[in-house]
Amino acid sequence: MDAETGKRAAGEAAAALVEDGMRVGLGTGTTARWFVLALVERAHAGLRVACVATSEATVRLAEELGIWLEPLDRRGIDIAVDGADAVDADLRLIKGGGGALVREKIVAAAARSFVVVVDDSKVCSALPGSVPVELVPFGVDRTLALLESTGGAYTLRTVNGAALLSDNSNLIADGHYESLDDPEGLAARLDAIPGLVGHGLFLGMTDLLLVGHPDGGVERRSPR
Ligand code: 5RP
Repeated sequence: MDAETGKRAAGEAAAALVEDGMRVGLGTGTTARWFVLALVERAHAGLRVACVATSEATVRLAEELGIWLEPLDRRGIDIAVDGADAVDADLRLIKGGGGALVREKIVAAAARSFVVVVDDSKVCSALPGSVPVELVPFGVDRTLALLESTGGAYTLRTVNGAALLSDNSNLIADGHYESLDDPEGLAARLDAIPGLVGHGLFLGMTDLLLVGHPDGGVERRSPR
């Protein structure tokens, strides 16, 4: 319940940043949902926005709420707002708990401003060793072996006993490392693996972090 108050406060604070006429990236997950709900309220009050969704789940949410969605085109977008599974003091993120990491990263990278919304349980001194990845199904066992050569154990994510498919019809796997001492070094090694479409390390991407607290207060942090 307390976490929900923080999520809502962060989401609503992010919606207040959106200006008339902006192109807006809608994130995925329970915190991003509060942003979307608050944005809809502002749209009902006259704010004009064009929105891009980061997942099919968010497409469904937007459709339920009557939000007009557009594809991501060459212009990019003005602001993207998304949640995170963990964030450290350098505003480095782990994302992908909802399996939407590839579209989320494409949209975040296309935004002039990437705003991250979390409740305070997500803030950590060091990123935990859990790293979601999206993999092309072809040759996945070989790709898993290459992933494990980076020092983590990887398991394919399943739902009802079957491999979970991402919105891009790829596989999702979860990596577990004892610790993440060098996130940038690991990201570079992951980026070099053929068969890996994307990973949940979002490094150097956050322009603003909004941390919601159980009392409804919101703390703002910018990159150091
Ligand atoms: C989905 C994500 C989410 O942003 C992340 O899992 C946080 O979700 P929530 O706000 O529900 O805790 O990365 O792929």
